[in-house]
Amino acid sequence: MDAEAYRQDALTAVEHADTATELDEARVRYLGRKSELKQALREVRDRETGMALNAAREAIEEALTARQAELERAELDRALTEDVVDVTLPGDELPLGSLHPITQVRRIVEDAFLGLGYEVRDDREVETVEYNFDKLAFAPTHPSRSHRDTFFFDDTHVLRTETSPSQIHSLEEREPPIYMVSLGRVYRRDAITATRYPIFHQFEGLAVDKGLTLADLKGTLLHVMRALYGPERRVRFRTHFFPFTEPSIEPDVSCGICGGAGCRTCKWSGWIEMGGAGMVDPRVYENVGLDPEEWTGFAFGCGLERAAQLRHDIPDIRVLWEGDLRALRQF
Ligand code: DAH
Repeated sequence: MDAEAYRQDALTAVEHADTATELDEARVRYLGRKSELKQALREVRDRETGMALNAAREAIEEALTARQAELERAELDRALTEDVVDVTLPGDELPLGSLHPITQVRRIVEDAFLGLGYEVRDDREVETVEYNFDKLAFAPTHPSRSHRDTFFFDDTHVLRTETSPSQIHSLEEREPPIYMVSLGRVYRRDAITATRYPIFHQFEGLAVDKGLTLADLKGTLLHVMRALYGPERRVRFRTHFFPFTEPSIEPDVSCGICGGAGCRTCKWSGWIEMGGAGMVDPRVYENVGLDPEEWTGFAFGCGLERAAQLRHDIPDIRVLWEGDLRALRQF
């Protein structure tokens, strides 16, 4: 074969290749395994022919590399001048979600307490009978201890029925002064209805320090209720009983729908029940090894579903658990 003529042909082909595909075709044709050159190289017998053929191969390889670089540069130039992107065109709109009403309310409560200098806690949902009941001074005969009211794993473990065990955990973890709020899920063996669900959320607060009074409790709850429901709200207390507080009270917040005049939501009383509260019972201090003569404090517990319901006027609590977007999109 005529190495020189072959080389000339190949270089012309490379020169005329205008696309990456054409260049590839030239490479296969002149340097590929079945190319004339490769055949000839396989059959070569004398040194001189070998050198001539190899020189041709090198020249063709160089030309291919150079042409490839040229084509790439040309393509880049073309893209830079022709592929113009109008960055002012509107993009594709992505569907935007929103926070679940329970999450919204939880964050409001957390913010309100952080603003008061409280620590936010998250405690275990599987709790021992000792922390869920005993250390909170529940009487041995208290109805909540029954298997009909509470989910038991075994004799000593339950799904916590309230966030109140957080009080014991924080009091055992360190010395007062303590200002904490604990938020999370609690569980009770209730049938599902418009107002009850076997899983729900509570927030539990505890303040233990020197010289705290019911007035401090009232001011604290007022602050949080106003964060949740607006600056016009008032708070009142009714006496009640809880094992771990003495005195125990139930705080009410004035109804925001009627402004306290009386309506369907507040059952014509002008007030809406918020949960439970009270001054920490001396037995609780004793159960965690603190001196009740030295320390004073208050505690409170409220449901988050209730708060979300009242904020958004949601008539049926099940909406908060069903995950139906048609309902949740409204909040
Ligand atoms: N744990 C009570 C409940 O679930 C609510 C409660 C009442 C919490 C009084 C408290 C409290 O911290 O002091 O019904």
